[in-house]
Amino acid sequence: MVLLVAILMVMLLVSTLAVGTIHQNTTLFNLPHLERLDLAFNDFTNSHLPSEIGRFSNSLTHLNISKCGFVGQVPTDITFLRKLVSLDLSSNSFGVGLEPRVFNNLLQNSTHLRVLSLAYVNLSLVLPTYLNISSTLKSLDLRSTHLQGKLPQNIFNLQYMENLQLSENYITGQLPKVNASANIPLKHLHLSSNDLSGDIPFSIGHLESLETLIISYCGFMGPLPKSMVNLRHLTTIDLSSNMLNGTLPSWLFTLPSLEIIDLSNNKFHGSLPLEMFNHQSLKKLSLGNNQMVGKIDVLDHVPTLQTFQKLTSLTVLDLSLNNFTGHWELETLLLNLRNLISFDLSYSGLYVMTYNANGYINPDFRYLALRSCKLTVFPESLRAMKDLWYLDLSSNAIRGHIPDWVGEIGGNELGYLNLSHNFIEGLPQLRWYGLRQLHLQSNKIQGPFPPSICNMSILTTLVMSNNRFGGVIPHCVGNISSNLNMMDLGNNHFHGTIPNAYEHCGELAGLILNQNQLEGEVSSSLLKCQYLEVLNLENNLLNGTFPGWLGDLPFLKILDLNLNNFHGPIETSSTRKVPFPCLQVLDLSHNGFVSHLPQKYFQSFNAMKNVVKNREKPSYLSINGLHYSMNVDMKGVEQSFPQIFVHCTILDLSNNRFEGEIPDIICSLKALIVLDLSHNSLIGRIPHALGNLLEIESLDLSCNQLAGEIPKSLADLRFLEFLNLSQNHLAGRIPIGKQFNTFEENSFGGNPRLCGLPLPEKCEHPYKPPVKVDGDPESEFTWIVFMLGYGCGTLVGLVMGYLMLSTGRPMWLSAIVDATENMIKTRYMYIGK
Ligand SMILES: *[C@@H]1O[C@H](CO)[C@@H](O)[C@H](O)[C@H]1NC(C)=O
Ligand SMILES: *[C@@H]1O[C@H](CO)[C@@H](O)[C@H](O)[C@H]1NC(C)=O
Ligand SMILES: *[C@@H]1O[C@H](CO)[C@@H](O)[C@H](O)[C@H]1NC(C)=O
Ligand SMILES: *[C@@H]1O[C@H](CO)[C@@H](O)[C@H](O)[C@H]1NC(C)=O
Ligand SMILES: *[C@@H]1O[C@H](CO)[C@@H](O)[C@H](O)[C@H]1NC(C)=O
Ligand SMILES: *[C@@H]1O[C@H](CO)[C@@H](O)[C@H](O)[C@H]1NC(C)=O
Ligand SMILES: *[C@@H]1O[C@H](CO)[C@@H](O)[C@H](O)[C@H]1NC(C)=O
Ligand SMILES: *[C@@H]1O[C@H](CO)[C@@H](O)[C@H](O)[C@H]1NC(C)=O
Ligand SMILES: *[C@@H]1O[C@H](CO)[C@@H](O)[C@H](O)[C@H]1NC(C)=O
Ligand SMILES: *[C@@H]1O[C@H](CO)[C@@H](O)[C@H](O)[C@H]1NC(C)=O
Ligand SMILES: *[C@@H]1O[C@H](CO)[C@@H](O)[C@H](O)[C@H]1NC(C)=O
Ligand SMILES: *[C@@H]1O[C@H](CO)[C@@H](O)[C@H](O)[C@H]1NC(C)=O
Repeated sequence: MVLLVAILMVMLLVSTLAVGTIHQNTTLFNLPHLERLDLAFNDFTNSHLPSEIGRFSNSLTHLNISKCGFVGQVPTDITFLRKLVSLDLSSNSFGVGLEPRVFNNLLQNSTHLRVLSLAYVNLSLVLPTYLNISSTLKSLDLRSTHLQGKLPQNIFNLQYMENLQLSENYITGQLPKVNASANIPLKHLHLSSNDLSGDIPFSIGHLESLETLIISYCGFMGPLPKSMVNLRHLTTIDLSSNMLNGTLPSWLFTLPSLEIIDLSNNKFHGSLPLEMFNHQSLKKLSLGNNQMVGKIDVLDHVPTLQTFQKLTSLTVLDLSLNNFTGHWELETLLLNLRNLISFDLSYSGLYVMTYNANGYINPDFRYLALRSCKLTVFPESLRAMKDLWYLDLSSNAIRGHIPDWVGEIGGNELGYLNLSHNFIEGLPQLRWYGLRQLHLQSNKIQGPFPPSICNMSILTTLVMSNNRFGGVIPHCVGNISSNLNMMDLGNNHFHGTIPNAYEHCGELAGLILNQNQLEGEVSSSLLKCQYLEVLNLENNLLNGTFPGWLGDLPFLKILDLNLNNFHGPIETSSTRKVPFPCLQVLDLSHNGFVSHLPQKYFQSFNAMKNVVKNREKPSYLSINGLHYSMNVDMKGVEQSFPQIFVHCTILDLSNNRFEGEIPDIICSLKALIVLDLSHNSLIGRIPHALGNLLEIESLDLSCNQLAGEIPKSLADLRFLEFLNLSQNHLAGRIPIGKQFNTFEENSFGGNPRLCGLPLPEKCEHPYKPPVKVDGDPESEFTWIVFMLGYGCGTLVGLVMGYLMLSTGRPMWLSAIVDATENMIKTRYMYIGK
């Protein structure tokens, strides 16, 4: 009776207190016999859990305040609740904390406690060694609690523990041994996303009650221990994203209850054991990204031993990124595996063939990825997939026009579509208004911009580059959505003007319109795109003066106006004190800009001034997961980089009609990697201070009217690999030292008054070589060029290195380079991947 009244009271309270705080005076705390208090999913945002909770010390057995929005430390008084059987403090506002002392008392004093959930509570001060409790706990949930340190040795030997959840923490070290003599009741073990490493211990086979074993995203190595064959109750095993190796053991598929296997992102090799194909209870099999081999066919009428047709319970099958061989008839598979809803064969090595799929009906199918499976037509079985959410048929050989019914696949459910890298010539009418990502790049698609794209109101990524789209870009594009993050229409035949951005330019970070025939001026409506990071208008017919107002965009990193018809002097028209504060790549080459170099801007290019000395971890500029690619002119050769480093800094003002001297202020752009001022009408001397650009790797001042001597400071630029000072009026002796010794005649030619090596003209006063201090300058060169860290420079460096390897080079260099050639090639491939 008491209990009933109490519960009644609480329900009342819950409804009146749904939003607000708990006052210490509330009548709630006057219920001395309250046994169960469940406030889960109410909104007490930003209030503290009152210490009056301790008043229930003689009655409360169940307390659930999960997802209530509480903040602050959990009061010590909670440890007075010594009758507690179940306590759930999980998922409150991040920042609810529990002191180690309170945590410890809770475990030790509440001798009745069976269920404790502290998920998302801040336990950063609690060490896992506190878990060496010999308590009666049956279920302990400490997911995402900032737990750090090593697991106590007896963690698996707790007498009553059935459910132990420690995922998403900072737990380190190895898994402790499991005690053989104890009868361990543990059923669920979750340790994903920790810093655990080492082998999976052989003694894990003693956890004979285990049903789910989830240890993904750790650093485990070595093979699956054979003792696991004892885990007869195992239904789920997820060891994905570790570094496990060895072959896939056949005993795994003798475990009678096993339904879910996820071993993706490991290093397993060898072929699939035959036992697998008979394990009919298998529901989910993920082996993606391993090194598996072997022939597996899925064909109609052809009996094969290794085939998936019998695994009729499968809902998820992922064999992607492996090295299998074999031919799969998509329809034969789908007709047999009628429960399948997620299927990934991308880069598996398997060929997918497709015939007419009459009779296949599975509206629940959600995820289909057949990247690089040698598909030649659009599989008709997709017609039945009314709720398809993810479709990737990229990098196949699909030709011609896509049939019209394709436009309806998945309907408004379809969120991701990648048809890139095929030979598609025409699209059906697109009717996917729920699309978030649309990738059509690198096909041969003709025709106008599909108008219905404007109606895709939650689109975030639109990539249509490298096709034959033509006509004007419709103005509705300016309205597409406030979610659009990346729009890449580069390398098509679009003409007309750049559409105005209307109300919603919200999230747009990348606008890529290069290599089209767009004309007119750049509309200042782009100022509405306040989050723009990359604006690439390269190779169009745009005109007008320099759009200086772009300087107001606070995050703009890359501005490429190369190869257009811009003209006039460059004036600051930004209203900001410091325009272009984040700009790191500016390419204005091949336009008609005149007058002085834009000194004022050089003052404000802060991103080009700050050298970022983190060359260890290569990270690339990306927008919404897409790497940004660009073309850089080097050595008269246009190089295309599939991705560029986050800190790459380039200033290219070449092929304009700039005049006057090179202002000293340019030398404050200390982070520059590439500086190209060639093909202008610059006069005066080369500033001595250019020697301050210590990061520079490519410097081109050729084809100007520069006079005077080459400053000696340039010879100290350690990373300089490409230098062109030719076709000027330079005079005097070419400095000697470091990288300078590697440049050839063509770096200096066309300056009749220059003398000294590498030019044939000898200087009047012979050069006295300085006393060598340490090392041989030639071998130093080797390491400088090829040990360039992972800056933007590595790109330049490797391409230059590569060019040098494949073209002419000084004899003395050959010997050194041959020795390192392999190394360079490997790294070049890595970078270009
Ligand atoms: C709670 O009660 C105390 C003493 O009865 C009183 O001083 C205090 O103002 C009350 N607080 C609230 C929030 O009603
Ligand atoms: C919990 O137990 C410890 C020792 O067993 C004792 O010192 C402490 O006072 C207890 N805490 C509470 C809140 O009862
Ligand atoms: C607490 O309540 C939530 C919501 O009803 C529930 O999901 C959760 O399982 C409960 N916690 C415990 C330990 O029973
Ligand atoms: C967790 O608690 C520790 C110690 O009280 C504190 O330093 C840290 O900032 C907290 N972390 C979060 C994310 O609130
Ligand atoms: C837990 O370990 C700590 C130190 O590691 C030790 O001081 C404490 O006595 C242990 N507690 C139990 C209950 O074993
Ligand atoms: C292993 O279990 C036995 C029996 O329960 C127990 O006596 C022994 O102390 C345990 N060993 C460890 C290391 O926990
Ligand atoms: C598996 O990985 C371990 C540790 O990295 C290594 O020592 C062992 O040689 C590997 N075994 C196989 C078969 O690749
Ligand atoms: C895949 O197998 C082929 C031949 O079986 C082999 O040449 C190739 O190197 C393998 N690729 C990988 C990534 O293991
Ligand atoms: C789309 O497919 C292409 C080719 O397979 C791939 O390079 C690209 O990364 C895919 N796009 C996304 C966003 O996954
Ligand atoms: C886009 O939506 C508008 C309004 O909902 C509709 O009138 C128009 O026909 C749609 N256009 C296309 C191409 O679907
Ligand atoms: C863009 O949207 C605005 C307001 O939502 C509307 O007034 C305008 O007509 C639209 N423009 C185009 C070209 O669709
Ligand atoms: C810019 O281009 C447009 C369209 O081609 C043309 O009408 C206009 O005259 C050009 N303006 C200048 C200043 O060249």
